[in-house]
Amino acid sequence: MQVRFQDVTLTFDQEKTVLDNINFTLPSSELISFLGPSGSGKSTTLYLISGLLTATSGKIFFDDRDVTRLDPVKRGVGLVFQNYALYPHMTVRENIMFPLRMAKMKRRNQIERAEKMAELTRIQDQLDKYPGQLSGGQQQRVAISRALAKEPEILLMDEPLSNLDARLRIEMREEIRRIQQETKITTVFVTHDQEEALSIADQVMVLNDGHIQQMTDPVSLYAQPNNLFVANFIGTPVINKFLKQSPALNPVHPIMDTVWTTLGIRPEHLRIGTPEEHLIQAIVQRVEIVGKDVTVHLDSHGQKIVASQLAPSVKEGETLYLTADMSHLYLFDDQGVRQEMRGGLYE
Ligand SMILES: Nc1ncnc2c1ncn2[C@@H]1O[C@H](COP(=O)(O)OP(=O)(O)OP(=O)(O)O)[C@@H](O)[C@H]1O
Ligand SMILES: [Mg+2]
Repeated sequence: MQVRFQDVTLTFDQEKTVLDNINFTLPSSELISFLGPSGSGKSTTLYLISGLLTATSGKIFFDDRDVTRLDPVKRGVGLVFQNYALYPHMTVRENIMFPLRMAKMKRRNQIERAEKMAELTRIQDQLDKYPGQLSGGQQQRVAISRALAKEPEILLMDEPLSNLDARLRIEMREEIRRIQQETKITTVFVTHDQEEALSIADQVMVLNDGHIQQMTDPVSLYAQPNNLFVANFIGTPVINKFLKQSPALNPVHPIMDTVWTTLGIRPEHLRIGTPEEHLIQAIVQRVEIVGKDVTVHLDSHGQKIVASQLAPSVKEGETLYLTADMSHLYLFDDQGVRQEMRGGLYE
């Protein structure tokens, strides 16, 4: 099922506009991640899809059907929340059967469907337990089974992994990916964790302050950020940023002849250059080695710089001449919009 927002605005209490005239299309059968900082409007957008919130203006379509004013129960969406929201006094089987019971499905079919869902999420041996007897990851599997029990056309998940520890989060995100691939259900996965979004999703929609910043596949989002917000939000360590007038930059480098306000260089794109042809001259402050990752922290005229692909042999206190390929220099205008380099520079 395709989901389409057309000029959707949501204003709370007639004064606080949380989503401002947003337009997007979620492609059918894909896994789409909503990514953005706290308060950016991720949950609000999800609740508008589910019908728990109604748009102040604009329209929402499921395929060609206008669902803007449709009752949540009739929308055919499954919801999974961060806190699982399982019924503690019911067994796993009863929890999964619950929405089917509400829909007055025949009991025999309820049981069959619950077992099928438990198989899909690999908790078939937990059906007689109570939620309190399960781990966090298992509980979230039950919540997913319950959300899928009525065979919805859309699955909405709001930060479903936030309550799990780091290792389990990685395991469960692979599981969500697998379940989505097996069922081919159109799925929205809300997270504020950029690595999680990039690893799991076919498409990522980046939100900030109630506005869509960019929507594209994870590879393009990383390599071709539309603006400074996206460039800064995606990627660890964070992208290095330099204002045009920064004393860290070599004034005779060819990039200085073009018009821009902010230059962005990802830490992995900084490499050792020569005194004649360098972009930045900086002093090594600290070499941080964490397992296979070597992160070099440098300083140039008070500006902090991070490089992640330099040899681990660089010494603290050493002066380095750094450079990067022209194609790895991101230029942003005074509004933070990334400029496509044209003319001779990239050639
Ligand atoms: N019922 C409400 N009344 C007024 N303002 C609200 C209401 N619900 C949410 N908001 C505001 O809307 C904005 C977006 O909230 P939303 O919950 O969508 O953010 P989010 O991106 O999901 O953030 P988080 O990562 O913290 O969950 C926030 O500024 C929030 O304070
Ligand atoms: Mg939220």
